[in-house]
Amino acid sequence: MKGIILAAGSGTRLYPVTRAVAKPLLPVYDKPMMYYPLTLLIQAGIRDIMMIISEKDLDSFRRVFGDGSKFGISITYGIQKTPRGIADALIVAKDFIAGDSVCLILGDNVIYGRGLKRDMRRAAKKAELEHKSTIFGCYVEDPRAFGVIGFDEENRPVSLTEKPAEPASNYAVIGLYFYDSRAVEIAEKLEPSSRGELEITDVNKAYLEAGDLEVTLLDKKVTWFDAGTFDSLVDTISFVRRIQYEYDCIIGCPEEAAFANGWINLDELRSLGEEMSKSGYGKYLMALALRNARNNSTINKYR
Ligand code: DAU
Repeated sequence: MKGIILAAGSGTRLYPVTRAVAKPLLPVYDKPMMYYPLTLLIQAGIRDIMMIISEKDLDSFRRVFGDGSKFGISITYGIQKTPRGIADALIVAKDFIAGDSVCLILGDNVIYGRGLKRDMRRAAKKAELEHKSTIFGCYVEDPRAFGVIGFDEENRPVSLTEKPAEPASNYAVIGLYFYDSRAVEIAEKLEPSSRGELEITDVNKAYLEAGDLEVTLLDKKVTWFDAGTFDSLVDTISFVRRIQYEYDCIIGCPEEAAFANGWINLDELRSLGEEMSKSGYGKYLMALALRNARNNSTINKYR
């Protein structure tokens, strides 16, 4: 399965800040926003990743992520010339996807909580082995700014509407999508919506109509943010800060996820930390390496 992170788009809702820095590189507390979706893809077991970006941001992204080898993965960059819509990313990435199944995640979505990794891995398997696609629904007070899922009396999904004035339910579609190999072909057949975009909701509708769409409602223990406005960005930052202090952990840490998968080793983890040893983030990586080295030596001692 391939992974795609959407990080183009004009970021006009965050002007004037995004004139200088691309939205997905803005800090969400102690790391760039993109670290969060990248970590999720790694946790889902996806190693081959394309970041869809605007041409002007290529150097900045390369400086932050390089070719991905430091995370034990491959990162390539797909240039989207104009923000023609989220579904357009599937067309930009057509050669990269090369007939494989694909997970698409939005660069401004921060999702955190127990059970998420399990749900993502299950969705990946469903796409790869059963040709089913999966989207995730999250209960929100006001879903009008999102894609919204409508259900029948037996709670089966029956409709999907992008930014409806009168939502059919309180379940918003979050920016995390798992598709089988048909996704590119579906995107290529789409017409632009009334707002001039190729809508990801229309791709999801095609799967729904074919009877091949699974909808997983997020567990109450999972928190989702679309950090695309100043207010939601501040809320996301406060959340991350609180959780990290409360649980003495770091959310959105691709190095930790890669290490957990066995994609980078202890020495690599340690030296990634040492490169940033003055920041709390770097110190966390070093402490993680130290803790694991100690555990290993204890295990070896009693072998
Ligand atoms: O956050 C979840 C919502 O994301 C879904 O509920 C909606 O169904 C979906 O359409 C989307 O709505 P948004 O209005 O929040 O999408 P936005 O235009 O903010 O784009 C999301 C990210 O995708 C953003 O980081 C920029 C990137 N993007 C967007 C467009 C339109 C691209 O890379 N290229 C694009 O052409």
